[in-house]
Amino acid sequence: MDKIKARDRIAELREILEKANEAYYQKADPIMSDREFDTLLQELLDLEMEHDLQTPDSPSVRIGGRPTKIFPNVRHPVPMLSLDNTYSPEELDDFDRRVKKLLGHNEFNYMVELKYDGMALRLRYEDGRLTLGATRGDGATGDDITPNIRTIGDIPLKLRNNISDIVEVRGEAYMNLEDFARMNNEREEAGQQVFANPRNATAGTLKLQDPRIVAQRPIRFFAYDLLLEDAEPDMTQQQKLNRLEEIGLPVCEHRDVCETINEVHNLIEKWDQKRHSYPFETDGVVVKVNQERYRSELGQTAKAPRWAIAYKFEAEQAVSTINDITLQVGRLGTITPVAELKPVELAGTTVKRATLHNEDEIRRKDIRVGDHVLVEKAGEIIPQVVKVVTPEDEPRQAAFQMPETCPKCGSKLVKLPEEVAWRCENLECPPQVRSRIEHFASRDAMDIDGLGEQIVDQLVSEELITTFADLYELTSDQLIPLERMGEKSAHNLVQAIENSKRKPFDRVLFALGIQFVGTTVARDLASAFGSIDELIRADEEALTAVDSIGPKIAGSVRLYFSDSKNLELIERLKRHGLQLEAETTEKTSSKLAGKTFVLTGTLPTLSRKQASELIEEHGGKTTSSVSKNTDFVLAGESAGSKLEKAEKLGVAVIDENAFLEIINSQ
Ligand code: IVH
Repeated sequence: MDKIKARDRIAELREILEKANEAYYQKADPIMSDREFDTLLQELLDLEMEHDLQTPDSPSVRIGGRPTKIFPNVRHPVPMLSLDNTYSPEELDDFDRRVKKLLGHNEFNYMVELKYDGMALRLRYEDGRLTLGATRGDGATGDDITPNIRTIGDIPLKLRNNISDIVEVRGEAYMNLEDFARMNNEREEAGQQVFANPRNATAGTLKLQDPRIVAQRPIRFFAYDLLLEDAEPDMTQQQKLNRLEEIGLPVCEHRDVCETINEVHNLIEKWDQKRHSYPFETDGVVVKVNQERYRSELGQTAKAPRWAIAYKFEAEQAVSTINDITLQVGRLGTITPVAELKPVELAGTTVKRATLHNEDEIRRKDIRVGDHVLVEKAGEIIPQVVKVVTPEDEPRQAAFQMPETCPKCGSKLVKLPEEVAWRCENLECPPQVRSRIEHFASRDAMDIDGLGEQIVDQLVSEELITTFADLYELTSDQLIPLERMGEKSAHNLVQAIENSKRKPFDRVLFALGIQFVGTTVARDLASAFGSIDELIRADEEALTAVDSIGPKIAGSVRLYFSDSKNLELIERLKRHGLQLEAETTEKTSSKLAGKTFVLTGTLPTLSRKQASELIEEHGGKTTSSVSKNTDFVLAGESAGSKLEKAEKLGVAVIDENAFLEIINSQ
């Protein structure tokens, strides 16, 4: 490439990388995969070097993005560097050779750690107390996000053993995959936008202005570096990690010292195979010279230390073809376009569908039916289309056109000016009806055991129910003829529906499925207003007076209760005896006052927890072993030695039916 062409390409690469950096760091919403970023960055580095076109403001020199304006900035006394990356075993060998050559010996070893895929944090403890939590920012200056950091349970506010006046800790904030999935489900249920992966969720959360919201998100932390006032030159990374643990900071258990680079290769191979079994996301390993003394000798470049390298695992991507683009209708009518793919193996599962998020996203990536696409597991959970890779000489089909009507019910689709998604506003649209009922029955809502997707599907298509209020009128005779439903499971389902009537008011409120009302908001509303009638009466001002409620949620609540159909539904739930008032802390009754229960075996419809909650609500208590002081043994199927003991001591043994009769008696 001649110098003029190189200059153009460099300008182009710088612009792309700037944009990618901004999307990643400032907006916490990446526009390309790490792999793509690294490839482009490498191309830029090579071109700048070859044509001697380096500049100090090039993204090849600057680390990451600039700190954002909304938090106070804080200078890092020791810069927070980045790491050099590689994907190839050969380059790892090059790194090993370079280190040996620079040191002039091989009297060191390596500490190998997992590379946690989250957000880098700097913590400062003065006299053993947390005084600062900051982001990396551009490496020299970051955001002071201390109030947010204080909400992270893994991070001690006070060190267990103080070891120095000033202790600086570096580490990574992240989210466990399970917590991430649970949080996203809740968001989806509340009609909020879901996060693409745990890293974005972590970065997005830590940049929020309200620490109370941060406190509700499942952020975790691993420490990986310790900086002390009086550096101890003989210290090793291994000792630092042990020291971090001793002072009360969480350190990842997956770490190992390797004597040679071959041992490092073997360890990487082992960890690569296990990477999907870790509860958090990892995108590779970090190989670090263990001895502090040699680290200072090796020093650093403008961007990264010479004593460490990140070896990235191959991204979990695969190429497939889009057979069709279909539309999914959510509980609140939100339309999500989905790519129906030619099945492809990806990270151990067969992927057949990938979310395309919304119409804008399809347009931005210009995704069309028939395209070859690069598919990636985002957060290793939801497959996504990264980009189109259809060869340029291959003819393509017409651009995707959003239909004007709902594919499931034919009503006209609408799009509100401030929203990205189209919506079907027909409340009778079958998938919406089904998912409203599924939501109502789900674990965090009414927790109706046995009312899964397939049963709801049958109940709706057999026209046995059209709303969740209809559930309370179902009889076992109506259920028995359904597929995979016997007499016993029909009876159990009716009983489980009956039991759900005792769920507290805040659960019922969440179960209604009002947009933006997730479990937390439901709890806050329930305790602020105390009853559904008060809540229905509440105006915008009264609603926004509640701590966690802003105009958006308030608007949504008002809208829900202004619809006469919803009020009718609530009246029916009331008639069926659901809890539409918050419980006072007083006991429901004192029927079991002074009585001691022991639970054993599996009860047909109540879980152990539900049974002991009921006992407590009615004034009784539960203990774990049978004695002469036990009044009742509540026994289910496969009851064991406790039952024998009860019989021996002459303690009354009752089954679930008898128990429910006692507490339901007048
Ligand atoms: S050591 C001089 N160890 O990777 C930098 N970093 O690309 C020393 N990271 O933002 C970093 N896991 O937040 C180190 N076990 C680990 C890590 C780790 C994740 C992140 C770190 C940094 C990025 C560097």
